[in-house]
Amino acid sequence: MSDDPLPPSSQAPAPGRTTARTAAVIPAAGRGVRLGPGAPKALRALGGTPMLIHAIRAMADSRAVSLVVVVAPPDGAAEVRTLLDAHALPDRTDFLVVPGGESRQESVKLGLDALPPGYDIVLVHDAARPLVPVDTVDAVIEAVRDGAVAVVPALPLADTVKQVEPAAAPGEPEPVVATPDRSLLRAVQTPQGFDRTTLVRAHGTVTDNVTDDASMVEQLGLPVVTVPGHEEAFKVTRPLDLILAEAVLARRRLNDGF
Ligand code: CTP
Ligand code: MG
Repeated sequence: MSDDPLPPSSQAPAPGRTTARTAAVIPAAGRGVRLGPGAPKALRALGGTPMLIHAIRAMADSRAVSLVVVVAPPDGAAEVRTLLDAHALPDRTDFLVVPGGESRQESVKLGLDALPPGYDIVLVHDAARPLVPVDTVDAVIEAVRDGAVAVVPALPLADTVKQVEPAAAPGEPEPVVATPDRSLLRAVQTPQGFDRTTLVRAHGTVTDNVTDDASMVEQLGLPVVTVPGHEEAFKVTRPLDLILAEAVLARRRLNDGF
């Protein structure tokens, strides 16, 4: 389902639909400390191509996305512009590059600040999730078009999760205090999709440190809904994730000459 859900010939939106244009903000300004020493994570190669280029293509492959805003490492905006020029990207998509900030939240805010008027739906997608399938991107956009103000791709958990409290002293075991019902827990991914006004308001209001954008919308008291996530949308965080990502790429190349 990589086609734009709105037929190209339609002059007027279907009932309940809007003609809202969609932009994607890609925070890519992190260092990748957990991946170990080396270049900023988004610029490291996967199958010979920087992770960031994979992530940009994953957004631009959706026909609904007409602008991608890349939030580059603070001193790496020029390098990212050079990378964009050096790699084939769809002509129908516009690109902007802005320098990022100290935290992911700050980087996303800087990306939002750079967003021109005329885009009513905003996706926020981690550069560190280079392999998200286009069907997942389209499902998120579709749910926002259908009226949700905030949408997250979500998967059930494989592991049981324990809540702990801090150890009494360094090196001591952490006491377990609870085991939340796993069937009610979800691991959430990106792209997360938003009504633009809602996301801008959330970033202008919430000052707590958060690890995703949807939680800021939750703090406004507004509803956040899920769509099915995808196992290939995993976040490249630790060295083992690079091996998994290379294996996924190799399988794709084998299966469809990707
Ligand atoms: N990010 C960002 N600006 C920051 C920190 C993170 O744009 N100041 C981005 C990362 O580039 C990444 C996404 O947010 O695409 C998710 O963050 P994470 O996976 O934690 O990446 P890093 O912060 O780079 O990794 P680490 O926490 O291991 O340093
Ligand atoms: Mg981080």
